[in-house]
This record gives sequence, structure tokens and C-alpha cells, in this order.
Amino acid sequence: MIEPFKSPLYITKPLLPDIYEINEMIKSIWDSNQLTNNAGMVKRLERDLAGFLGADYLSVFSSGTTALEIAYKILRLSGEVITTPFTFAATITSLMWNNLKPVFCDIEEDTLNINPDKIEALITKDTTAIMPVHVFGNPCNAEKIQQIADKYNLSVLYDAAHAFGVKTGGKSVSSFGDVSMLSFHATKVYHTIEGGALVYNKPGLKERADFLRNFGLQDGGNVIEPGINGKLNEVQAAVGILVLKKAEGEIGRRKVLTNLYRELLAEVPGITAGKDLEGVTHNYAYFVIRVDRDIYGLSRDELFDRLREYNVISRKYFYPLCSNFQCCKDILSASRSMLPVANKAAEEVLALPLHGRLTDSDVEKICEIIKYARQKI
Ligand SMILES: Cc1ncc(COP(=O)(O)O)c(C=O)c1O
Repeated sequence: MIEPFKSPLYITKPLLPDIYEINEMIKSIWDSNQLTNNAGMVKRLERDLAGFLGADYLSVFSSGTTALEIAYKILRLSGEVITTPFTFAATITSLMWNNLKPVFCDIEEDTLNINPDKIEALITKDTTAIMPVHVFGNPCNAEKIQQIADKYNLSVLYDAAHAFGVKTGGKSVSSFGDVSMLSFHATKVYHTIEGGALVYNKPGLKERADFLRNFGLQDGGNVIEPGINGKLNEVQAAVGILVLKKAEGEIGRRKVLTNLYRELLAEVPGITAGKDLEGVTHNYAYFVIRVDRDIYGLSRDELFDRLREYNVISRKYFYPLCSNFQCCKDILSASRSMLPVANKAAEEVLALPLHGRLTDSDVEKICEIIKYARQKI
């Protein structure tokens, strides 16, 4: 008999700065009387992040979604953008909000990322960009994607919302493509409560983006190109500066818990956990499993419900699939028959709780519940 957890075990818990340290930072902001408008904390955060990520050009924004929208402008995107349906809603809705048409490309079975072999067939005269997502922090096949982009003269904008700090072959994933977007939402492995960043791999882009996040205002008050309010404020920047100091420790602890999950679930038939990819430094942002109903005996949805009975709050990530959203019903490429791998993944993938405050025994108990869930313990 397994007792339910006394309080809910959520999928994540935000990494919090030390309360005394944040008080000190807030005091210095109060003393400065400058709460926003690209002041000291934002400038320091941009320097710290650029150093951490090895980025030449980087700006922070009020959210990852705003950062994406500004990226569409600086890359002058129009018409169609080829992307993945297996992503968070913001990837797709931000395109549509900016009158860009998402064109859905199926995904790879193992990485759950856009399948580069399927991209070329989707390119039309209206295509201006490819927007891959490093799903759950697994790096996309950037080399193949870049080859296609070069052949057809397309921009590549990475949605790297999940991939903070991920490296492949010793290189940060944010160095791929023209621009990468990072999300610093409180649920992410690194955060500024709400916030995001763009990492630019070409000179000139940062300057334009920095004008656009401030309504488009130039120094003399003139506007050449209309912008939006996408500024991060000083208090959130201070949180970001302190959370950054803890990011490596958090990732290290998540790695330990991920390995424990993998070890304990290895013997459960029908449950498949991901594995580390060769040459990749992962950030362990999420721990996801796939549930094969025929072998495991319960569907992903049944396991989700069973875990809830034990106060384990897992997440059907990403379900429903973006291409099945009501707002995408008129998009031809959203048809189920064109996206078999993504539709299957959306039915089978489940993200389990993972954060640095989880104990080994929490993970052991979650795995016990999964092991015996079929038998109604
Ligand atoms: C894949 C993906 N893209 C975009 C976003 C949007 O980022 P934000 O919440 O910072 O606006 C998120 C996360 O929230 C995400 O997971």
C-alpha cells in the first residue's frame, strides 16, 4: 500500500534567490530610483548572461513571447514559417498574432524535434523562415537545417525556450541559426519570473531589437520603425542576476534526479525515458517518459489520472498538439495524416516532477507508483 504524497508534487518549483541577497539588490534599486528603462540591473544581467552563454550579442525582454515577436520583425519575416506542431502554444500563436502562417512539419521519433528530412517538401514561394524548437532542451539537427536554409535563402530562428545552457560539441545551442529565443518564465530551469532573451548571431540585429523593445524610440525621440513595450524591469533583472548564480547547481541536482528516474524506470515495461545524447551537455529542464499502452497496460492519460490520485501532478506536454488547435483548423499542413509522429507523441508523452528541491525518496516513490499503477495499489 503506497500512501499519497501529503501535499501536491508539482512538475516544477521555481529556483529562488536567497531572500537576504534579493533584499540587498532591491535596496540598491530603491536607492537608485530607477525601476525600468534599460538601467543598471538590466545592463548587468545582459553582460552576465552573455558571459554564461558565450554570446556576442544578447538582449533581454519582458517575456520569451515578446522576444519572438521582436525577432520576427528584425528578421523581416513575412508569409510562411516552417515549424513544429510539437511545441508550446506560444511558438504558434505568436506567429499567427503577427500575421505569419505556421506551416507544420512532422518531428523525429527520438528527439521529438522538427524532422529536417521533411522540411524541403514544405517550402513554397511564400516561405521566409524555419523556426525549429529544441524540444525539452534536446538540440535540433542544426547543420542539416542550416543547409536547407542556405539553399533556399531562408532565415532560421530557434525557439530555444527549453534550452538554456545546453551545448552540443562544446558549442552553445544559442549560437545556431540567425537568432535564438530563450524563455525565462518561472517554470524554466533558469528564470527572471517572467522574461526572455534573444541571442543574435549576426551584427546589427541587437541594435534594432533594442529600439523595438522600447516602442521604436531613437535617442532624439524619433521613431523610424514602430516598436512595442518589451522591456524587462530592474527588479526582475536583479532576480535574474541572482538566479544565474544558482543555475549550475540546479542543473547538477536535476541531473542526479534524472539518472535516478532513468535507473528506476528502466525495468518498467512500456515506459521509455529519454537518454543523454552523444556530445550534448544537457540542462535537464524536463523529465519526460513515453507510455506505450499496449505494453504498459495503461494509457498515458490513465497514468496521468492515477498519479493525480497520489498527489503527483504530471503534465501532458504537449497536448493537445498545436496543429489540432481550433485556430489551426484551416491550415492544410495541420492535417493529422501529415503529422503521424507528432500526433502519436502528443498521446504518449508525460512530463514528471523535476526540480532541485525534490528529494531522492520523492523520485523513488513516484517510480514505485508508476511501477504498480496498473495493479491499483
Ligand atoms: C517552447 C516554448 N516556446 C515559447 C514559450 C514562451 O515563452 P514565455 O512564457 O517566456 O513567453 C515557451 C514557454 O513558456 C515555450 O515552452
